[in-house]
Amino acid sequence: MLRIAVIGAGRIGHVHAKTIAAHPQAELTLVCDPIGTAAEDLAALHGARACKEAEEVFADPEVDAVVVGSPTPLHIPHLLAAAKAGKAVLCEKPIALDMKDVEAARAELDAVTTPVMFGFNRRFDPSFAAVRAAVADGRIGELEQLTIISRDPAAPPVEYIKVSGGIFRDMTIHDFDMARFFLGDIVEVHAVGQNLDEGIKAAGDFDAAVVTLKAASGAVATIINNRHCASGYDQRLEASGRDGALFAENIRATTVRLSNAEVTDAQEPYLDFFLERYADAYRLELSAFIEAVEAGTTPPTSIDDAIKALRLAEAATASAKSGQPVLLD
Ligand SMILES: NC(=O)c1ccc[n+]([C@@H]2O[C@H](COP(=O)([O-])OP(=O)(O)OC[C@H]3O[C@@H](n4cnc5c(N)ncnc54)[C@H](O)[C@@H]3O)[C@@H](O)[C@H]2O)c1
Repeated sequence: MLRIAVIGAGRIGHVHAKTIAAHPQAELTLVCDPIGTAAEDLAALHGARACKEAEEVFADPEVDAVVVGSPTPLHIPHLLAAAKAGKAVLCEKPIALDMKDVEAARAELDAVTTPVMFGFNRRFDPSFAAVRAAVADGRIGELEQLTIISRDPAAPPVEYIKVSGGIFRDMTIHDFDMARFFLGDIVEVHAVGQNLDEGIKAAGDFDAAVVTLKAASGAVATIINNRHCASGYDQRLEASGRDGALFAENIRATTVRLSNAEVTDAQEPYLDFFLERYADAYRLELSAFIEAVEAGTTPPTSIDDAIKALRLAEAATASAKSGQPVLLD
């Protein structure tokens, strides 16, 4: 039984706390959040203890592992403090808002010896993972093109956008990791940002984007993002190979279809939002983390994966601003 603490009792903290509490090999021991009664409220939902200071988590002998779900600028400090205290860490994405912060902590990050995994939960989505496994099994021959579509149902408040690090660090980061998951190292990034939302434009960000990534293998990934989508949380993936193609479609609560005088084959909305759509992925991500910690094996996503995804986000940001492709080493 892995005794786990959650740092940050916000949106993702609630997802992780619920997932841990329901997991047969995990116990939610402690929830930490300095603001108001956030920690107490979340801890009470699952019969855990609560605290306000992260230092209390790191010093607690009844905590084996820590899930870092605090705001992004705190990820590196919380990850390092937890690891130095001997705790295993499952840290949310992105690792930081700026590569400068990664570089400043590089020596300490390199020296971490406890298991650290990053929250690229979409790798664990059963449909995306099945596409990846089928590609690896050679079912479509050599992979030539990967297309990832990820559109949110509605844009977050502009106040969130202002501190998010921009669409590529905040949203596309999942898709950069997914592209690396399928294609390995990326050598070229070309991004086009869109400004169709005046509020988001005034905040200095793009509300939608299309990114092309060329892999060292020559294969190309196309990522299509939008902060809003009238038809809901649109999460699809297509892998096209020399001998065939694989498609992961949107997921609905049921398979019921309606036909009448106005519509034929109308279906329920897509599962909405990340909490519901990726519930299985968060559960399987946690299982992979627990398995690695207990078996003493390397977790499936690493600090290196987090840094490489952030590097792609920074390259995409530069490309979208300059209009030029960015070449990577
Ligand atoms: N993997 C995913 O699907 C996913 C989804 C959402 C968010 N995230 C990531 O999770 C992180 C948090 O995002 P969110 O949407 O939950 O934000 P949020 O604002 O809802 O929650 C963050 C929480 O951290 C708390 N906090 C602030 N300072 C703290 C401190 N010093 N110690 C402990 N807690 C502190 C805040 O009070 C808040 O409750 C971000 O890095 C985000 O990118 C990942």
